[in-house]
Amino acid sequence: MQNYKDFLLDILIDDKTLQQRIAELGKSISEDYNNRDLHLVCILRGGVMFLSDLMRQITVPHTIDFMAISSYGSGARQSNGQVRLTMDLKDNIMGRNVLLVEDIIDSGHTVASVLALLKTRNPASLKVCTLLDKANRREVDVPIDYCGFVIPDKFVFGYGLDLDEYYRNLTFIGTVNPKKYQQPE
Ligand code: IMP
Ligand code: MG
Repeated sequence: MQNYKDFLLDILIDDKTLQQRIAELGKSISEDYNNRDLHLVCILRGGVMFLSDLMRQITVPHTIDFMAISSYGSGARQSNGQVRLTMDLKDNIMGRNVLLVEDIIDSGHTVASVLALLKTRNPASLKVCTLLDKANRREVDVPIDYCGFVIPDKFVFGYGLDLDEYYRNLTFIGTVNPKKYQQPE
Protein backbone atom coordinates (compact mmCIF):
# COMPACT_ATOMS: atom_id res chain seq x y z
CA MET A 1 0.00 0.00 0.00
CA GLN A 2 1.26 3.41 -0.91
CA ASN A 3 1.87 6.29 1.46
CA TYR A 4 -1.14 8.59 1.85
CA LYS A 5 1.02 11.50 0.69
CA ASP A 6 0.94 10.01 -2.80
CA PHE A 7 -2.78 10.83 -2.97
CA LEU A 8 -2.96 14.01 -0.93
CA LEU A 9 -3.60 17.25 -2.78
CA ASP A 10 -3.95 19.42 0.30
CA ILE A 11 -5.15 19.43 3.87
CA LEU A 12 -8.72 20.73 3.93
CA ILE A 13 -9.24 20.66 7.72
CA ASP A 14 -6.28 20.22 10.03
CA ASP A 15 -6.19 18.36 13.31
CA LYS A 16 -6.46 21.43 15.53
CA THR A 17 -9.40 22.89 13.62
CA LEU A 18 -11.22 19.54 13.74
CA GLN A 19 -10.72 19.17 17.48
CA GLN A 20 -11.79 22.75 18.21
CA ARG A 21 -15.00 22.33 16.28
CA ILE A 22 -15.71 18.92 17.84
CA ALA A 23 -15.32 20.49 21.28
CA GLU A 24 -17.93 23.11 20.31
CA LEU A 25 -20.30 20.42 19.03
CA GLY A 26 -19.83 18.43 22.24
CA LYS A 27 -20.66 21.51 24.28
CA SER A 28 -23.90 22.23 22.36
CA ILE A 29 -24.96 18.59 22.54
CA SER A 30 -24.25 18.51 26.29
CA GLU A 31 -26.38 21.62 26.81
CA ASP A 32 -29.23 20.35 24.64
CA TYR A 33 -29.36 16.91 26.28
CA ASN A 34 -28.91 18.11 29.84
CA ASN A 35 -31.01 15.88 32.12
CA ARG A 36 -32.13 13.76 29.17
CA ASP A 37 -31.12 10.26 28.28
CA LEU A 38 -28.80 10.37 25.25
CA HIS A 39 -28.00 7.47 22.94
CA LEU A 40 -25.39 7.99 20.21
CA VAL A 41 -25.73 5.81 17.12
CA CYS A 42 -22.66 5.65 14.90
CA ILE A 43 -22.72 4.47 11.31
CA LEU A 44 -19.72 2.26 10.63
CA ARG A 45 -17.09 2.55 9.50
CA GLY A 46 -16.50 6.20 8.61
CA GLY A 47 -18.05 7.62 11.78
CA VAL A 48 -15.77 5.94 14.34
CA MET A 49 -13.04 8.58 14.65
CA PHE A 50 -15.61 11.33 14.95
CA LEU A 51 -17.67 9.39 17.50
CA SER A 52 -14.70 8.65 19.70
CA ASP A 53 -13.53 12.27 19.80
CA LEU A 54 -17.07 13.68 20.06
CA MET A 55 -18.11 11.50 22.99
CA ARG A 56 -15.07 12.67 24.96
CA GLN A 57 -16.43 16.22 24.58
CA ILE A 58 -19.94 15.32 25.71
CA THR A 59 -20.30 15.88 29.43
CA VAL A 60 -23.76 14.36 29.96
CA PRO A 61 -24.11 10.62 30.61
CA HIS A 62 -24.76 8.73 27.40
CA THR A 63 -24.60 5.34 25.72
CA ILE A 64 -23.35 4.34 22.27
CA ASP A 65 -24.27 1.78 19.65
CA PHE A 66 -23.19 0.95 16.11
CA MET A 67 -24.80 -0.02 12.85
CA ALA A 68 -23.35 -0.76 9.45
CA ILE A 69 -24.90 -0.26 6.07
CA SER A 70 -23.72 -0.62 2.54
CA SER A 71 -24.81 1.33 -0.48
CA TYR A 72 -25.66 -0.65 -3.55
CA GLY A 73 -22.69 -0.22 -5.85
CA SER A 74 -19.24 0.02 -4.35
CA GLY A 75 -18.26 3.59 -5.14
CA ALA A 76 -18.80 6.35 -2.63
CA ARG A 77 -20.68 8.26 -5.30
CA GLN A 78 -22.90 5.38 -6.18
CA SER A 79 -25.28 6.05 -3.38
CA ASN A 80 -28.67 6.09 -5.11
CA GLY A 81 -31.07 5.78 -2.24
CA GLN A 82 -30.63 2.05 -1.92
CA VAL A 83 -28.93 1.14 1.32
CA ARG A 84 -28.75 -2.25 2.94
CA LEU A 85 -28.37 -2.87 6.66
CA THR A 86 -25.34 -5.13 7.12
CA MET A 87 -25.12 -4.90 10.91
CA ASP A 88 -28.00 -3.87 13.11
CA LEU A 89 -27.91 -2.03 16.43
CA LYS A 90 -27.46 -4.08 19.57
CA ASP A 91 -29.97 -2.13 21.68
CA ASN A 92 -33.61 -1.27 21.29
CA ILE A 93 -34.05 2.48 20.70
CA MET A 94 -37.72 2.69 21.61
CA GLY A 95 -38.30 5.70 23.87
CA ARG A 96 -34.68 6.84 23.68
CA ASN A 97 -33.20 10.14 22.53
CA VAL A 98 -31.15 9.00 19.57
CA LEU A 99 -28.44 11.13 17.98
CA LEU A 100 -27.12 9.70 14.72
CA VAL A 101 -23.40 10.36 14.26
CA GLU A 102 -22.12 10.41 10.66
CA ASP A 103 -18.84 11.28 9.01
CA ILE A 104 -20.19 12.96 5.88
CA ILE A 105 -23.48 13.70 4.18
CA ASP A 106 -23.19 13.86 0.42
CA SER A 107 -26.33 13.12 -1.66
CA GLY A 108 -28.23 12.57 1.60
CA HIS A 109 -29.59 9.16 0.60
CA THR A 110 -27.70 7.22 3.26
CA VAL A 111 -28.85 9.30 6.20
CA ALA A 112 -32.38 9.66 4.81
CA SER A 113 -32.83 5.92 4.63
CA VAL A 114 -31.22 5.27 8.02
CA LEU A 115 -33.54 7.87 9.58
CA ALA A 116 -36.57 6.25 7.94
CA LEU A 117 -35.54 2.89 9.37
CA LEU A 118 -34.84 4.19 12.88
CA LYS A 119 -38.14 6.10 12.98
CA THR A 120 -40.08 2.86 12.62
CA ARG A 121 -38.59 1.80 15.98
CA ASN A 122 -40.20 4.72 17.83
CA PRO A 123 -37.35 6.56 19.52
CA ALA A 124 -38.41 9.45 21.81
CA SER A 125 -36.40 11.76 19.55
CA LEU A 126 -34.10 11.36 16.56
CA LYS A 127 -31.47 13.90 15.55
CA VAL A 128 -28.48 14.03 13.22
CA CYS A 129 -24.90 15.09 13.87
CA THR A 130 -22.51 15.07 10.91
CA LEU A 131 -18.89 16.12 10.85
CA LEU A 132 -18.95 17.10 7.16
CA ASP A 133 -21.70 18.33 4.89
CA LYS A 134 -21.23 18.48 1.11
CA ALA A 135 -24.27 20.71 0.96
CA ASN A 136 -24.27 21.44 -2.78
CA ARG A 137 -24.37 17.71 -3.64
CA ARG A 138 -27.67 17.11 -1.83
CA GLU A 139 -30.31 15.11 -3.74
CA VAL A 140 -32.72 14.47 -0.88
CA ASP A 141 -33.38 16.76 2.04
CA VAL A 142 -32.11 15.58 5.37
CA PRO A 143 -32.48 17.45 8.62
CA ILE A 144 -29.06 18.22 10.13
CA ASP A 145 -29.13 19.26 13.77
CA TYR A 146 -25.37 19.49 14.36
CA CYS A 147 -22.83 20.04 11.60
CA GLY A 148 -19.06 20.33 11.92
CA PHE A 149 -18.13 21.82 8.56
CA VAL A 150 -19.81 22.53 5.24
CA ILE A 151 -17.26 21.52 2.61
CA PRO A 152 -16.99 21.96 -1.18
CA ASP A 153 -17.68 19.19 -3.66
CA LYS A 154 -14.28 17.54 -3.44
CA PHE A 155 -13.40 13.95 -2.70
CA VAL A 156 -11.89 13.86 0.79
CA PHE A 157 -10.19 11.28 2.99
CA GLY A 158 -8.76 10.83 6.46
CA TYR A 159 -10.28 11.10 9.93
CA GLY A 160 -12.52 8.08 9.41
CA LEU A 161 -13.02 8.53 5.67
CA ASP A 162 -11.22 6.04 3.49
CA LEU A 163 -9.59 5.65 0.13
CA ASP A 164 -10.31 2.02 -0.75
CA GLU A 165 -10.52 1.29 3.00
CA TYR A 166 -7.11 2.77 3.85
CA TYR A 167 -6.00 5.98 5.58
CA ARG A 168 -8.96 6.25 7.98
CA ASN A 169 -6.41 6.85 10.75
CA LEU A 170 -5.23 10.25 9.50
CA THR A 171 -5.86 12.96 12.06
CA PHE A 172 -6.90 15.52 9.41
CA ILE A 173 -9.25 15.72 6.44
CA GLY A 174 -7.38 15.85 3.14
CA THR A 175 -8.51 16.36 -0.43
CA VAL A 176 -7.61 13.73 -2.97
CA ASN A 177 -5.37 14.53 -5.89
CA PRO A 178 -7.52 13.48 -8.88
CA LYS A 179 -4.39 12.96 -10.98
CA LYS A 180 -3.16 10.30 -8.55
CA TYR A 181 -6.38 8.62 -7.50
CA GLN A 182 -9.37 7.65 -9.60
CA GLN A 183 -12.49 8.24 -7.58
CA PRO A 184 -14.84 5.26 -7.74
CA GLU A 185 -17.74 5.92 -10.11
P1 IMP B 1 -24.68 9.93 0.59
O1 IMP B 1 -25.65 8.81 0.73
O2 IMP B 1 -24.48 10.32 -0.83
O3 IMP B 1 -24.97 11.11 1.49
O4 IMP B 1 -23.29 9.30 0.93
C1 IMP B 1 -22.68 9.36 2.11
C2 IMP B 1 -21.56 8.32 2.12
O5 IMP B 1 -20.75 8.42 0.94
C3 IMP B 1 -20.66 8.62 3.26
O6 IMP B 1 -21.07 7.95 4.43
C4 IMP B 1 -19.31 8.17 2.76
O7 IMP B 1 -19.17 6.78 3.02
C5 IMP B 1 -19.38 8.34 1.27
N1 IMP B 1 -18.69 9.57 0.82
C6 IMP B 1 -19.27 10.67 0.29
N2 IMP B 1 -18.35 11.59 -0.03
C7 IMP B 1 -17.15 11.07 0.32
C8 IMP B 1 -15.80 11.56 0.25
O8 IMP B 1 -15.50 12.69 -0.20
N3 IMP B 1 -14.83 10.72 0.70
C9 IMP B 1 -15.10 9.48 1.20
N4 IMP B 1 -16.35 8.99 1.30
C10 IMP B 1 -17.37 9.78 0.86
MG1 MG C 1 -20.09 6.72 5.84
